[in-house]
Amino acid sequence: MKDLTPNKADLDAIEIASIDEIRALQLKRLKWSLRHAYDNVPMYKERFDAAGVHPDDLQQLSDLSKFPFTYKNDLRDNYPFGLFAVPREQIIRLHASSGTTGKPTVVGYTANDISNWADLVARSLRAAGLRKGDMVHNAYGYGLFTGGLGAHYGIERLGATVVPMSGGQTEKQVGLITDFQPDGIMVTPSYMLNILEQYHKIGLDPRDSSLQVGVFGAEPWTDAMRREVEAAFDMHAVDIYGLSEIMGPGVASECVETKDGPVIWEDHFLPEIIDPVTGEVLPDGEMGELVFTTLTKEGLPMVRYRTRDLTRLLPGTARTMRRMEKITGRSDDMIILRGVNVFPSQIEEQLMATGGLAPHYQIELYKAGRMDAMRVFVEATPEAADELSKTAAARMLTKRIKDMVGVSTEVIVGDPGTVERSQGKAKRVIDKRDA
Ligand code: DLL
Repeated sequence: MKDLTPNKADLDAIEIASIDEIRALQLKRLKWSLRHAYDNVPMYKERFDAAGVHPDDLQQLSDLSKFPFTYKNDLRDNYPFGLFAVPREQIIRLHASSGTTGKPTVVGYTANDISNWADLVARSLRAAGLRKGDMVHNAYGYGLFTGGLGAHYGIERLGATVVPMSGGQTEKQVGLITDFQPDGIMVTPSYMLNILEQYHKIGLDPRDSSLQVGVFGAEPWTDAMRREVEAAFDMHAVDIYGLSEIMGPGVASECVETKDGPVIWEDHFLPEIIDPVTGEVLPDGEMGELVFTTLTKEGLPMVRYRTRDLTRLLPGTARTMRRMEKITGRSDDMIILRGVNVFPSQIEEQLMATGGLAPHYQIELYKAGRMDAMRVFVEATPEAADELSKTAAARMLTKRIKDMVGVSTEVIVGDPGTVERSQGKAKRVIDKRDA
């Protein structure tokens, strides 16, 4: 793999400013953002008043803990545009996330918001080792999802060539990568595995591809998966994080020279980690729920938005700004099996460590009598698809999950291609407990 460390001179000055400078900028912007939300969004005025707090009460960053939280349901309750802080005519773009239940959540951006977003995705790509003049294949889905267009404008802002491929049509993805020779690819990690599979299907060696770096996000993926993809393509794999309610991709992103968790772009987003049950703010380094307050968003300011993502805040390394530990799960994805908390990523980790199995999986929850039970569907690699190898792999993975994760599961090893493939975000858990 090529050394892609960016030149210090190409970074935004604030990325490597002193901590004091960053905190001072945050305080100034936070005061503006709270005031902007309070003055222009009825829900924030009601909530702040009910909690007995006013934007003027914020004298230092830690005063933020006095302010009330915002939840995903608040967006649904104010569907579609009730939380916008500017007249609808000033919103130049809408995005929405479908969610599995109820109304979609709608987000809106002013021209400045869109411009800041492009800047932050460009900054994220620079951190990933890409630069002006490179070509980036964008396989995040275009449309209401923030992935496609969010990545698109960032690639252009960097001064790179964007290939706006979107998701799906896996054969064509590989065809275009082969013909156009892009330097980077942006895609969900689970869909990257489909692309990898297509290389094998048509007998092309992925290591011969032009790709130098993959910028993967929109869903959890493990370091084991990183190693697998890096080895398969002989390229760097870095993590990009974001969520529509706060902006979209590029809220945080990993540096290629360290690969030690996404750097939070703290000049635009103030992170907190809280105890998900009590709501109490936890010190840096402790595991809890990630909460964001936007510092510059005009269209849809978010005050203490509960992401449901579980992680911890870590000190800066390649940049001054703090990092978050690579996200291994959302509180919504946590499976509680006979008292043991299990995240799909823990199953992924064990799967990747078991020989003879492809990196595709799906987890099914069902009732065995009155007890919850879990079944893991995986598949054999083409080289290990005989009955003997499949039985051995199933036994091995069952044991690893029992020993390392602490739960008993049934592992079903199917033939190659039998686990459902993702076109974007993978659906890891199928819950049949109510069926
Ligand atoms: O997934 C935005 C995005 C697009 C990020 C492309 C990165 C790349 P939503 O659809 O609103 O937005 O989903 C946000 O996805 O709260 C996390 O649970 C999860 N997520 C996003 N990035 C990561 C990541 C986009 N790098 C939700 N690692 C978030 C783990 C991630 N989970």
